[in-house]
Amino acid sequence: MQHVLDAIQAGASGDELANLPIPESYRAAFVLRDDIGIFEGVASADKEPTKSLHVDDVATPELAPDEVYLAVMASSINFNTVWTSIFEPIPTFAFLDRLGRESTWSARHALPYHVVGSDASGVVLRVGSAVRNWKPGDKVTVHCNHVDDQDPSAHNDSMLAANQRIWGFETNFGGLADLSVVKANQLMPKPSHLSWEEAAVNALCNSTSYRMLVADNGARMKQGDNVLVWGATGGIGGYAVQYVLNGGGTPIGVVSSPERAALLNAMGCEAVIDRAAENYRFWSDEHTQDESEWRRFGKRIRALVGDDPDIVFEHPGRSTMGASIFAVKRGGTVVSCAATSGYMVEFDNRHFWMKLKRLIASHFANYAEAWAANRLIDQGRIQPLLSEVFPLTQVGAAARLVHRNEAEGKIGVLCLAPTEGLGIDDPEKRERIGEDKITLFRRR
Ligand SMILES: NC(=O)c1ccc[n+]([C@@H]2O[C@H](COP(=O)([O-])OP(=O)(O)OC[C@H]3O[C@@H](n4cnc5c(N)ncnc54)[C@H](OP(=O)(O)O)[C@@H]3O)[C@@H](O)[C@H]2O)c1
Repeated sequence: MQHVLDAIQAGASGDELANLPIPESYRAAFVLRDDIGIFEGVASADKEPTKSLHVDDVATPELAPDEVYLAVMASSINFNTVWTSIFEPIPTFAFLDRLGRESTWSARHALPYHVVGSDASGVVLRVGSAVRNWKPGDKVTVHCNHVDDQDPSAHNDSMLAANQRIWGFETNFGGLADLSVVKANQLMPKPSHLSWEEAAVNALCNSTSYRMLVADNGARMKQGDNVLVWGATGGIGGYAVQYVLNGGGTPIGVVSSPERAALLNAMGCEAVIDRAAENYRFWSDEHTQDESEWRRFGKRIRALVGDDPDIVFEHPGRSTMGASIFAVKRGGTVVSCAATSGYMVEFDNRHFWMKLKRLIASHFANYAEAWAANRLIDQGRIQPLLSEVFPLTQVGAAARLVHRNEAEGKIGVLCLAPTEGLGIDDPEKRERIGEDKITLFRRR
């Protein structure tokens, strides 16, 4: 891919890029089908992504008519790459095999290796014969909603499509690589004021938080709402805090260290709960929740903002769902997209039905929602949460940090981009938006 990088760095035109040969193989991060059993008997927390994530050359797949080849300049670590790398809750090869049975083109995905990664920024190199809106040379970011739009179930909200999948998690040929194959309907314009790695970290988490809080399909946050955000300096939590502040609400951010509390303050979030310092024990043992701890938590929220939260932004799952359902206001909404600490959740239904609360399930975002969220990044109203940058060769170490809850915001990964800071096309716009805002997480 060196000739591709050279051409991009030399400012080659779309026509010139379109004439470059696509290499027969490319460098990628992947897990191996043969490795599925390597963590047998190991506790989840001790499973090491560094052992299962490999970086090497893989064969370039053929291009389907509705796809593009993308030269990936940068990508990011998402929690789904952690799940893939520890083969939990199930090995992702099961997803690839199911996809492989759907059509001739989808059969390409069922391979002995799974190229991971669900975010990317880069340059379009080739477009398939059915692609209309994009051309070689376009600088783009990629959202991860992979949908077959010939299925009628995809035509109201594509997240409800029967064949909806997350690219690089439930499909092969993901973004943690020098080259990727993506559907044209995953592409969005790259924000011109951001570097490749700043542009690469947003799409998955930012779009998820947008749908959860802002979109009609989510909690439909209103001005003045109090919103409790778990993991408020994490990937989705950090975007959620920004949406609450932008939308005229009051975020109550929960984190687990004084450093993260200070970072929240720097973002403009004044109501902060350090769950580690305050030592909440919502579960008194493996099977029993402690309502008095829910009450202590609820009182703390009232002390901070004078009321119960209208919305709870929920994703830790088993460890917090009981507290979330209890703490949310009468008639309020808990919106959930995940279960990091365990998916068999439990809550006291009496608090739920007697106080007419609502629980909304949310999952990534449809193309319109992802586009709207990307536009907010482009306008400088939402900032990238890039905190650290790793080369592709160290993808395992980067995933390890996320697995251990040792990273803030988002970790960027340099793929073709040789160094940080490249790809900024509009420095004046960057200056207008403010370097201090754009790099807040990176500076810490
Ligand atoms: N459905 C979707 O489309 C979608 C999209 C994106 C992410 N997700 C899922 O959402 C979850 C979070 O993703 P992320 O990217 O934000 O991960 P992340 O960057 O690792 O952040 C998660 C945050 O959650 C907090 N946390 C972790 N365990 C907790 C616990 N037991 N109790 C309370 N807080 C806890 C941590 O904050 P503190 O320790 O500071 O409190 C951490 O910073 C993951 O499970 C991911 O797979 C789902």
